[in-house]
Amino acid sequence: MSSSRSSTVATDSGPADAESTIPPGWETAPFYRAVGNEAEVFRAAARGGLPVLLKGPTGCGKTRFVEAMANELGRELITVAGHEDMTSADLVGRFLLKGGETVWVDGPLTRAVREGALFYLDEVVEARQDTTVVIHPLADHRRELPVDRLGTTLRAAPGFQLVISYNPGYQSVLKNLKESTRQRFIAIDLDYPSAATEIEVVAHEAGVDAETARALVSLGNAIRNLDGSPLREVSSTRMLILAGSLVAGGLDLRAAVQSAVVQTLSDDRDVVRALGELVDAVLPRS
Ligand SMILES: Nc1ncnc2c1ncn2[C@@H]1O[C@H](COP(=O)(O)OP(=O)(O)OP(=O)(O)O)[C@@H](O)[C@H]1O
Ligand SMILES: [Mg+2]
Repeated sequence: MSSSRSSTVATDSGPADAESTIPPGWETAPFYRAVGNEAEVFRAAARGGLPVLLKGPTGCGKTRFVEAMANELGRELITVAGHEDMTSADLVGRFLLKGGETVWVDGPLTRAVREGALFYLDEVVEARQDTTVVIHPLADHRRELPVDRLGTTLRAAPGFQLVISYNPGYQSVLKNLKESTRQRFIAIDLDYPSAATEIEVVAHEAGVDAETARALVSLGNAIRNLDGSPLREVSSTRMLILAGSLVAGGLDLRAAVQSAVVQTLSDDRDVVRALGELVDAVLPRS
């Protein structure tokens, strides 16, 4: 399999900060440890060019998983973060004035369609529903993108695949996926990995020893299993990696956990105190 290519950010086809490409210097395969059968499902979907919807809490590995699959499949990965001001022109493209001439500039979705890339629309529920409908004809048997402003319809090149993701925990009546959108997708539910896998991930990503990673993962799971928790979000794998990175940077484990986990999870003094007590109970005494 060939490795993924990096692509350039088309700053003039939409808000620059909304689009990103695979990280530069991606010579080696992105490190990803499966939490279930997500890779098998994704591979089967990719074979048929079927669109995929990734569900999962923040920091559970959705983005990393897509990067790993793009790399494995040898596809370019074009990522766009959904936001409420995003318009279909930000995705499809627009005419821009360049040196006195009006020129058409493809948006990231159009580029992906032409190039047969993997198009990843992150935080899809943040985008308005009238914007996301632009992906409908690409997400069913038609595999085509009407580009109204050019008066043309593009057929997706082989290899083109749509991936969208969202965090069901943030769902609200106002921010939800249209039923006609979600029913076009194969859904993959990602969650935080098992303890053994998460220890491996934290150790690898933060560069800490297994013992430190084990302590962080025990704490993470204790927080996740809190009864009647007032927390909006629990400790993510990302958060445990950040704590580990502070330890790798020379900070003592408890101080690292205080800054990267406890203070990040809540501003409420009582909750912070209760979390501190949990830390005392779970982490080994130094
Ligand atoms: N299964 C995994 N294998 C390898 N690394 C992982 C895994 N899960 C999480 N990570 C690590 O955790 C970090 C956060 O994961 P990622 O950015 O993919 O989360 P996400 O689900 O996309 O979160 P968000 O919804 O906030 O965008 C990654 O950079 C990676 O270091
Ligand atoms: Mg992400």
